[in-house]
Amino acid sequence: MEDSSGHGPLRLTVLGTGYLGITQAACMSSLGFEVLGVDIDAGKVDQLNSGRLPIYEPGLRELLRSELDSGRLAFTTSYSRAAAFGDVHFICAGTPPQPGNHHADLSQVNGCVTTLAPLLDRPCLVVGKSTVPVGTARRLAAELARACPEAELAWNPEFLREGSAVADSLSPDRIVAGVMSSWAEGILRQVYARPIAHGSLFITTGLETAELAKVAANAFLATKISFINAMAEICEAGGGDVQVLSRILGADLRIGSAFLRPGLGFGGGCLPKDIRAFMARTADLGVGQALGFLREVDAINLRRRIRTADLACEMVGENLTDVPVCVLGAAFKPGSDDVRDSPALDVAQLLHGMGAQVTVYDPAALDNARHACPELSYAETLAEAARDARIVLLLTEWAEFADLMPDDLGAVVARRNMVDGRNVLDPDLWRTAGWNYRALGVALPPPLSTRSL
Ligand code: UDX
Repeated sequence: MEDSSGHGPLRLTVLGTGYLGITQAACMSSLGFEVLGVDIDAGKVDQLNSGRLPIYEPGLRELLRSELDSGRLAFTTSYSRAAAFGDVHFICAGTPPQPGNHHADLSQVNGCVTTLAPLLDRPCLVVGKSTVPVGTARRLAAELARACPEAELAWNPEFLREGSAVADSLSPDRIVAGVMSSWAEGILRQVYARPIAHGSLFITTGLETAELAKVAANAFLATKISFINAMAEICEAGGGDVQVLSRILGADLRIGSAFLRPGLGFGGGCLPKDIRAFMARTADLGVGQALGFLREVDAINLRRRIRTADLACEMVGENLTDVPVCVLGAAFKPGSDDVRDSPALDVAQLLHGMGAQVTVYDPAALDNARHACPELSYAETLAEAARDARIVLLLTEWAEFADLMPDDLGAVVARRNMVDGRNVLDPDLWRTAGWNYRALGVALPPPLSTRSL
């Protein structure tokens, strides 16, 4: 990877080694760059240098180990070493909500720039990847220029999904380069030369549009999910099957079927917090009305959780005090051990609050769930969680749940009651096996007609 100025191969640093930073560091190393990952947490740096991955992400541990073995990748706590090493510095720090409000807490992102900038003494590009409120990059660019006039800022948001983070980073649909000069654009084109050659769209724009690209994409995805879940509410009240409705809508190429899966709705570390921070920032800008609909998107999403708990009550036919309940799923989506704002865990807590004896099983997220919700009971196997349950709720669509056979599960439960919160089971198969089966967004089938044709 030669720098176009002929000064030798570009060397990259990644500031912050959370989900995004570890993925970015390992993926950039796999593209052939020398990469130094930086974190203020010495324990984490030691862990990463010895090839131990603190998160669950398919394929990432193997990539981390092979890149460490290649000698191109290392981790450090030293910002001085990073400043001396890097031609391009990626900011990958987290932006959680501020305590007590929905604005993004920018202290970690600010900290990266405030610590790095005074140590820089040669031309380099500092590239923000974190999700930030519009206007942040312009402010950081000024701070950087004051500390080191030879350094420049760019914004290059990350769109990776948990569970497919490596593929999303190495072959993104699009690469957004928010830049202030053609020099910066040239550097980013060099960094992403391989994905661009393999078909990723490279879109050059200003800093603000690049910042907005990320939150606008997440707001749109959340809106699509809540739209179909609003249709689910209507189907439940008026008759209808939201799954079929979703297929019909998705077949319209102008609408598309992605992110139109009805069910318990969205959670995780990004979509919920990002739409709320987007609304908070927009209100500060005096145009809060522009995102008034996102409040409704959030409300529809949260109502699904309450509806699911109410449906469990309805099916048991009494209050839930001391009723053994099995919850299948704790992760916010399959393929992840992340329980941040997990709809499944939220429903489990609601049921627990109604007095039920809730036992949760998840193939990957049990440790995180135990930590987040110590008041719930957990089982190491699905059968153990379901033993003697009077109702089972399928709340995260892991393949092992979707593939369940009704008689196998029926053999261990006390009553055959199933709430399919993710619309993944075959209703006919389960009803034929004697299960009282309900899915979100599907009205009860009407009684069979006795009239012959
Ligand atoms: C999301 C964005 O997709 C990604 O581009 C961004 O960088 C980070 O936020 P992620 O949080 O990993 O990624 O999860 P995603 O796959 O988008 O799913 C989000 C939530 O929506 C999950 O809880 C999922 O179960 C739910 N979902 C998704 C639905 O309920 N229905 C759908 O049709 C799709």
